[in-house]
Amino acid sequence: MSDFEKLKENFKNKLDQAKNSKEVDTIRSEIFSKDGFINSEFKKIGTLPEKDKKQIATKINSAKQELTKLFNTKALNLEDAEIDERVKKEKEDVTLPEKDFRVGKIHPVSQVIDEISSIFSEIGFSVEEGPDVESEYYNFTALNTPENHPAKDMHDTFYIEENMKTLLRTHTSPVQVRTMLKGKPPFKIIAPGRTYRSDSDQTHTPMFHQLEGLHIDENITMGHLKGCLNYFVKEFFEVEKIKMRFRPSHFPFTEPSAEVDIGYRIEKNKIIIGEGDKWLEILGCGMVHPNVLKNSKINSNKYQGFAFGIGIDRLAMLKYGINDLRSFFECDYRWLNYYGFDPLDVPTNYRGLSK
Ligand code: PHE
Repeated sequence: MSDFEKLKENFKNKLDQAKNSKEVDTIRSEIFSKDGFINSEFKKIGTLPEKDKKQIATKINSAKQELTKLFNTKALNLEDAEIDERVKKEKEDVTLPEKDFRVGKIHPVSQVIDEISSIFSEIGFSVEEGPDVESEYYNFTALNTPENHPAKDMHDTFYIEENMKTLLRTHTSPVQVRTMLKGKPPFKIIAPGRTYRSDSDQTHTPMFHQLEGLHIDENITMGHLKGCLNYFVKEFFEVEKIKMRFRPSHFPFTEPSAEVDIGYRIEKNKIIIGEGDKWLEILGCGMVHPNVLKNSKINSNKYQGFAFGIGIDRLAMLKYGINDLRSFFECDYRWLNYYGFDPLDVPTNYRGLSK
């Protein structure tokens, strides 16, 4: 074997035995650097007789190619082995308790939904859900909304299809019909969720939250509705007495219909709920219209009841003194840190809702 062949074999063995990429790099420079094996062999060509030059150059070139190939394969193998090694070492036990688990915060909207759910569950309401992408039928028609009602206008409603048959629900009221169609009376449910209207300013965002309430049974009256809402508002604002008024209103799906305002006053830039001579609207309600019961396959001669729709974001703003609704959905971590709630403080009636 010529010296050249010996040297080449020597490098191949060294490479074969290299244990990590650092060793490979050292060998690489021994072979391929300016003064390395390959270049010094090329330099020797100048001193050779003319007739041998071509043959030797070809030999060095093919050795160069052969070694380059070996390097590439070795590099890939080593990389794989190093990744395997790291994966083995960097194993994490995800079942271990987190050290700093109080970093996350509950968004005020989630907090308020939990609080309201807790209040209503105390008097026997269960929780239902409906889809955000809703059909025109459940959102309007089944709810007794006439064909030419202004709410159906493109300016108010986000339609998903051009034929206006699918939309983003504009309120949680379609859950009333969906719930009644899939069960048998009596019904006593609340349905919190996202709702959408084409609107945006300090007190309106295109996506907002509502909570629907529905109580259907024999002999349910407006008196039950008033008692239920009175209880809710007192519990929610955690006050003993509340000033509340029912104002006649109109919704296609309730008859009679009312809007509920609560009394408040401003003291040192802070809102005091339950007293004072100012009024603030917080929800819409009424006795479920017989046509809605009919569309929900309920015998309206035997069963009747009330429904209400609460603006959740509005209540969160009021209770926690947040004055711009848009900030709710900006995902600003500093905001959430300030207004958010401790994940371990789950609201319950007996222990206090927001303490
Ligand atoms: N769906 C009505 C709204 O979005 C509120 C409402 C619900 C009114 C149930 C009456 C009964 O404004």
